[in-house]
Amino acid sequence: MFVQGFQVLSFGSMLLVVTLRHRLGGTVAAFSTTASTNFWHQRSDRRHAIGDMFRSTPGTIAWKHRWAATSDVLVLYASSSTMTSEPPTGIVPRVKTVDATEPTNGPVLIKGWVRTIRKQKTVAFVEVNDGSNLAGIQCVLTFDSIDDLSKAELDKVTTGCSVVVEGPLMESQGGKQAVEVVATKIRVVGDCPGDSYPLAKKRHTLEYLRTIAHLRPRTNTIAAVARVRSHLAGAIHAFFQQSGFVYVQTPLITASDCEGAGELFRVTTLEMDKVSSLPLKKSEDGKSTTDEIDSSQDFFGKPAYLTVSGQLGGETYASALGDIYTFGPTFRAENSQTTRHLAEFHMVEPEMAFADLEAAMENAEHMLKYVVKHVLDTCNEDLTFFGKFYEKNLLARLEKLVSQPFARVSYRQAIDYLQEEIAKDPSKWQFPEVEFGTDLATEHERWLAETKFESAVFVYNYPRSIKAFYMRDNDDDGGETVNAMDLLVPGVGELIGGSQREERLETLLEKMKEVDLDPDEYWWYLDLRRFGSVPHSGYGLGFERLVTYVCGIENIREAIAFPRYPGHAEF
Ligand code: 4AD
Ligand code: MG
Repeated sequence: MFVQGFQVLSFGSMLLVVTLRHRLGGTVAAFSTTASTNFWHQRSDRRHAIGDMFRSTPGTIAWKHRWAATSDVLVLYASSSTMTSEPPTGIVPRVKTVDATEPTNGPVLIKGWVRTIRKQKTVAFVEVNDGSNLAGIQCVLTFDSIDDLSKAELDKVTTGCSVVVEGPLMESQGGKQAVEVVATKIRVVGDCPGDSYPLAKKRHTLEYLRTIAHLRPRTNTIAAVARVRSHLAGAIHAFFQQSGFVYVQTPLITASDCEGAGELFRVTTLEMDKVSSLPLKKSEDGKSTTDEIDSSQDFFGKPAYLTVSGQLGGETYASALGDIYTFGPTFRAENSQTTRHLAEFHMVEPEMAFADLEAAMENAEHMLKYVVKHVLDTCNEDLTFFGKFYEKNLLARLEKLVSQPFARVSYRQAIDYLQEEIAKDPSKWQFPEVEFGTDLATEHERWLAETKFESAVFVYNYPRSIKAFYMRDNDDDGGETVNAMDLLVPGVGELIGGSQREERLETLLEKMKEVDLDPDEYWWYLDLRRFGSVPHSGYGLGFERLVTYVCGIENIREAIAFPRYPGHAEF
């Protein structure tokens, strides 16, 4: 019997009144109205020191205490004198199910959501999942061993309700799990009406789950993706931090189109839904207005957009700090309904000064091996699940990625291979026309990675006509290619895109002219080439594509909590 924080958990037949105002400071008082009672108190910051025992007589205040702490939790234990006079040994600890691996001496608390409940004559089995792992935990409630309130609570337990269960962990009788909770108490925290709960039924399609994206993390698949994703993000930071890279946050609002693909979302405070209020540019003679919006009156005094990449800002910091990386959201108004594209996704963008493309490829290979090894080591349960339900060969594929060197092939050579293959049966291909200058489609990329090389493969030296303005022109190769690379992986296609940057001012100016970029808009970017320019290289890893790849799932829309794609910005 105890009172923890402000919450009254159980008092049997005894009425106990407790005032706890410790958060604000103040007086803490406890008394019993019906029976003489033994109390012990303990502060959460002194786990092992139980305060003096004191005894109440009915109706009088048993104990009073000026409480000055603002953050401690006070735990008060109470027991009627007819019950054990042994002081309790401490706060009942909460255990996450991922850590519930061994039997415990005393009780623990499990807090989570009910997946299933099975009731028999004398016993109920409640599967609780708290999100910390896939398996959750089985709680066994034998009606003889639980209090009356728990018996009544059991009637409220349904799939989806939230519960707190108390009891020791004991070796499981059923062989499915190592331990189970032999419960002494159960409390429903929030009930969940079965007739309206969208996840009540057993299996749902991933398409359906997208329509309830706020509830889908309660499913095995989406919860496992979320855990793997979190471990991948942690490992990415660990890799770069250990390698001496400085983490830089580049702006999300920008005036420049880094990739030059015109896939920008506009950011404005102009009242777009009131056309008559929009400021218009004046005609040249100043006498009338044109039909062009006057962005000088917009919030930033010029057109502004959500960034498609943090690279340009990253280059500025690499040109001072040497090795940097960004890891943040990027936005592309690509109107593509594919399984590989999102309108809002996250990109990891390292940028290295005094580094050529070779260094970028090496870094990318090390980084990928490091993060995939990390999830193989830490997310075994989730990856095994994906291997069972999504991609049979998943673990072997990931282990191969970690242990084998990535393949490398020039773009020209890749085109030759593709032409050869397509010629065998063009009808098998959605885009059978492939030649120098073709922007490879996902089917081409996947064939190279999955069939031709059966490995992650760097394709390098792309035609300059299909790549961004900032990529360094190759001095040889007939002036037709840039020093760029894409990393293609089985199942996904392009996972990484990178390049050596054009560090020569005159060449860069020429390249910008070719694609109609105004050097005045990029004055600060060009300054990097004016003041202490260095050869530098970097790449961008599509984080959601990595999650898709590592989990072996089909669609990138499952790799992010709330996917944004054309027509979808719900939640
Ligand atoms: O190849 P991209 O366009 O390269 C850049 O943006 C460079 N500025 C990166 C750099 O060098 N710092 O994009 C990089 C990666 C792609 O390889 C892909 O994995 C991912 O970002 N990506 C997308 N992921 C999801 N949805 C989209 N619409 C994506 N577009 C690109
Ligand atoms: Mg690319």
